[in-house]
Amino acid sequence: SIEEMEDRVRTIKHQMGKKLFIPGHHYQKDEVIQFADAIGDSLQLAQISAKNTEAEFIAFCGVHFMAETADILTSDKQKVILPDMRAGCSLADMANIEQTERGWEIMQGQFGDTIIPLTYINSTAAIKAFVGKNGGATVTSSNARPMLEWAFTQKERVLFLPDQHLGRNTAYDLGIPLEQMAVWDPRLERFECNGDLEQVKIILWKGHCSVHALFTVENVQQIRKTHPDAKIIVHPECSREVVELADYAGSTKYIIETIKAAAPGTKWAVGTEMNLVNRLTNQFIDKDVFSLNPYMCACMTMNRIDLPHLLWALDSIINGEIINHITVQPDIAGAAKLALDRMLARG
Ligand code: 13P
Ligand code: SF4
Repeated sequence: SIEEMEDRVRTIKHQMGKKLFIPGHHYQKDEVIQFADAIGDSLQLAQISAKNTEAEFIAFCGVHFMAETADILTSDKQKVILPDMRAGCSLADMANIEQTERGWEIMQGQFGDTIIPLTYINSTAAIKAFVGKNGGATVTSSNARPMLEWAFTQKERVLFLPDQHLGRNTAYDLGIPLEQMAVWDPRLERFECNGDLEQVKIILWKGHCSVHALFTVENVQQIRKTHPDAKIIVHPECSREVVELADYAGSTKYIIETIKAAAPGTKWAVGTEMNLVNRLTNQFIDKDVFSLNPYMCACMTMNRIDLPHLLWALDSIINGEIINHITVQPDIAGAAKLALDRMLARG
């Protein structure tokens, strides 16, 4: 039964004490979040992993790239476990290393040595390693703006992987006009650009988050009609058009803090993953919090981590035959750490 599984998780946590650490991303289900030792957005979870030196086992309630990041940032003695290997990220999978290296060569041919790569932390360890080797850094939705500002102190142009929307929204905030942004299509190996390619400041990899793509301009227009007094707040993985029409845009941490600080009785239509929206609805009962898309947008891969998988992972530690141990090859981990450290050094 659910109660038996919950009791067993509690017992294992108690038994293992500080030897076990369970980080949980905001998009995780309540059934596992209730056991998390730390809850956060991607940046907070990376910072927390980097600081944790005492946990021998880290059962990561999040998706594959987060577990890889935790492995890179922790010592060789610490073991990171992903309770379900199917918990990937379709956005991270939109850039593979072969495509990236081929694209980079073409970009160097076009622009010479004027480009620095930045990758959203939602990317594979191999992409982070590529970025690290080429002088670039990782970014999250919490620090994309200062990281992009930093990148422009290093080089004239930025290649932003793999989420075109976070890249475009952040560059737009910095005052870069849309004509000075190009999209790189890795499949057709060509640029899409409405202006003069030579004037381009940022090259956006043609990738997107399939969950945040479900929030549309029509959803915004509908809410403006049905709830004219509601504020619309969205994650910057949403398209430029949706962000433009929304009242606020920011990372999951920003969304939580903004709604928390809002006056009682206010209404909030939220454009981000369903588990977080539901949690905010239940947490802030003095406010009216609901999804911007009435059909709710769930991240299927985040949802792979459920109570039975968490228990399975913890049981495997107790039995001494650990499952789903996430390890990044040392050469990749070393180069990827350069990219992560350049970000973490900036807070
Ligand atoms: P943040 O945790 O940076 O808000 O990113 C959201 C996300 O999509 C994680 O997969
Ligand atoms: Fe990836 Fe989007 Fe799911 Fe986040 S919400 S894990 S970016 S698919």
